[in-house]
Amino acid sequence: MSLITVESLLKERHLRPEEAPRVEELWAEIRRLKKERNAFVPAHNYQVPEVQAVADYLGDSFELAVKSRGIDSAFVVFCGVRFMAEGCYTLAPERPVYVPSLDALCSLAEVDEDDVLERQEFLRALGRDFATLTYVNTYAAVKALSDSCCTSSNAATIAERLGKPDILFVPDQNLAYQVAIKTKRMYLPPPDPHAFHPKEYREMVEPLIREGERQGLVGNVFAWEGACHVHHQMTEADIESIRRQDPEAAIVVHGEVKPSLQRLADAVLSTAQMIKYVAAHPERKKFAILTECGLIVRMELEHPEKQFYKSCRLCQYMKANTLENLLETLRDRPPERLVTVPEEVRVGAQQAMQRMIDLAS
Ligand code: 13P
Ligand code: SF4
Repeated sequence: MSLITVESLLKERHLRPEEAPRVEELWAEIRRLKKERNAFVPAHNYQVPEVQAVADYLGDSFELAVKSRGIDSAFVVFCGVRFMAEGCYTLAPERPVYVPSLDALCSLAEVDEDDVLERQEFLRALGRDFATLTYVNTYAAVKALSDSCCTSSNAATIAERLGKPDILFVPDQNLAYQVAIKTKRMYLPPPDPHAFHPKEYREMVEPLIREGERQGLVGNVFAWEGACHVHHQMTEADIESIRRQDPEAAIVVHGEVKPSLQRLADAVLSTAQMIKYVAAHPERKKFAILTECGLIVRMELEHPEKQFYKSCRLCQYMKANTLENLLETLRDRPPERLVTVPEEVRVGAQQAMQRMIDLAS
């Protein structure tokens, strides 16, 4: 049973009074259609609260991936971004998966598989003993080139369990830093986007590799040049001003923020871990949660007794899903919103996703 009601949305000013009848009407019709058509609606923690209210399951990327394997419905309408829906199909292809909006993409996920092959070849030529660890925020063709996937909730654990000294971490350069710090590996910064020059890159990383060896580190994390446009624009000043204003506030950041912010924060967590962190600290009354706004809306509704600093940013891709396009998808199942992956690619991506699930537990 969702905590999100019209009353709670009105009370926290997430809904204007004139919008309430329309939202209630849409909720009723969506619930009716889900039942009538035997549809399942998973939703990511960043979805707008009106969509979260009618979801059958809410979670972070890892929880949603695990859930994908155990859905016993005729079809799925996935309220998240495309790579998440693709992951749901990848893990359980026997059941159709739809997205409510074709605009629900992700700025991290656009990685060219040929570039990954080139980087792997480069590392082999350098004589490195490495595993390719791919963040789930990628499409199946890149996942299929990986030894394992990971999410922000388990990236370091999986890096440790892959059994290789070096990690090629694709595509989030900031989460790569978190992996390096937690697993005692040298962080090797990424080349500039779309400007990988083997000779220059080698000249940049070799002294750092030698320094890591001198320090007795386990190995290296070769960071890819991707970043989330939402988290990467957050600044140290966002944290410093809250610290000055309110030293009591707990500051929690997502693993996709820049390394300098990760160092300033009290905790670096995935979205589901952030929700658990707030619930696990009843003694703390004030929080700054540096991530996408959808999560903060949910926390405000779940913890009206606590205060949340509004340091969040909007992901327009997550907000492309609305009650209207969810309803349309449940009703019409538009063929262009069906998510599929060529079978020869899906099999490789499934192995990498399954390895993540196995290694994370
Ligand atoms: P989580 O796995 O923490 O939910 O993150 C997904 C995401 O897209 C972060 O921007
Ligand atoms: Fe992608 Fe960033 Fe949006 Fe998450 S917040 S879906 S990483 S663009």
